[in-house]
Amino acid sequence: MDKLLVSGPSKLAGKVSISRAKNAYLPILAAVILSDKPIHLVNIPDLQDIKTMIKLLTMLGVDVSVNGNVTTFNAKNLKSHEATYDLVKTMRASIFVLGPLLARLNKAKVSLPGGCAIGTRPIDIHLENLEKMGARIELEAGYVEAHVDQFKPVHITLSFPSVGATENLMMAAVFTKGETIIENAALEPEIDDLANFLNAMGAKVSGIGTSKLHVHGVDSLKEVTYEAIGDRIEASTYLMAAIATNSEIEITDVNPEHLDFVIDTLKKMGAKIETADKTIKVFKHEKLKGCNIDTAPFPGFPTDAQAQLLALCCVIDAGSIVTENIFENRFMHVPELVRLGADIKLKGNTAFISGGRPLKSAPVMCTDLRASAALIIAALAATGETEIQRIYHLDRGYEKLEQKLIGLGANVRRVKGN
Ligand code: EPZ
Repeated sequence: MDKLLVSGPSKLAGKVSISRAKNAYLPILAAVILSDKPIHLVNIPDLQDIKTMIKLLTMLGVDVSVNGNVTTFNAKNLKSHEATYDLVKTMRASIFVLGPLLARLNKAKVSLPGGCAIGTRPIDIHLENLEKMGARIELEAGYVEAHVDQFKPVHITLSFPSVGATENLMMAAVFTKGETIIENAALEPEIDDLANFLNAMGAKVSGIGTSKLHVHGVDSLKEVTYEAIGDRIEASTYLMAAIATNSEIEITDVNPEHLDFVIDTLKKMGAKIETADKTIKVFKHEKLKGCNIDTAPFPGFPTDAQAQLLALCCVIDAGSIVTENIFENRFMHVPELVRLGADIKLKGNTAFISGGRPLKSAPVMCTDLRASAALIIAALAATGETEIQRIYHLDRGYEKLEQKLIGLGANVRRVKGN
């Protein structure tokens, strides 16, 4: 298995361009199934999870062709309605094809996604609301077997503003005659991006950016060219890497409003940050203060930036408290950060960080995507060469990570595994 060698303490400098968002393109790719017209997607990031979703679309019968930075999809001749266990077990987001398959083919057979490192992650909210919309759902041999004669225009209220459930249900309702209302919908920017993509294809989604989405059914969709938003979590990662190493960098090609809460939090801690249309500049700071943060659904502090923040808190000469409220097992990075010399106490879903102890290099291991990003940040601030193992976790969600870090002047090297 590949590993990364990171030398520190580093100073970063220069510009880094943010890739298109993984968590925007995954549901957008699933939505391709809805249409029998060509769909041209621009600057799809080169990530393992994206490759898995495209492989799933190909298995379902979607034609895929690449021309430079534009990938064209055509789901005119779908030949299957099944997402197999072999694929779904490698990427939970495969569940996003459930709604589109039902809307397009009135049937779907999708492997139940098992648990993952950060939590059990059930899909009950997806299934109970698809049933309210008229689907018949059976769980059989580890698969969701779903059929629908015709979706009904219903008013549903989610028991929790789940990102995935909001996306699946919005896609499922695209052709439903009448108005489907999704209340307590998630508000993440990736939801808005999916809704804007659907509307660009000719769907009728309104209430975008609010917790009450309205979907008016349409009969057909049209050819479209679309580019997703910048990755706010990738941007948050580079932002915290710069602050942890007290560096000055410029982050480009991302909408700073999508990480408002993150930037506000960092400013309150004493970081010097300026934003403009699609850029975020970070400058050297004097002394940083600790924080007391709870993760929450958007517009709160994103759970996907929690690990990175925790790593930053380790290098601040102050105490911090970080509480994880979204996933029940999202502190796998803590014992690895302790290996680098950090002082962190865990109590339930809260981490108490006594920062300021100098970090020193040691071999560490990635356990999930964002935990891995935390190890990168800590390794850039630590003294010595840190060996980061199992970096396949990183390749799932960070495009050209080492090239971008080297571009910022970091001393990073990938060592190919056998
Ligand atoms: C999306 O996952 C993201 N993944 C996650 O990013 C992100 O952490 C999460 O939203 C929260 O922001 C993608 O977009 C591909 P949820 P999703 O449904 O849709 C519970 C990353 O690092 N829940 O909002 O799975 C669930 O267990 C990944 O890029 C139910 O109980 O998140 C969790 O505790 C990790 N029943 C909470 O809700 C359900 O039916 C939030 O889950 C659905 C969810």
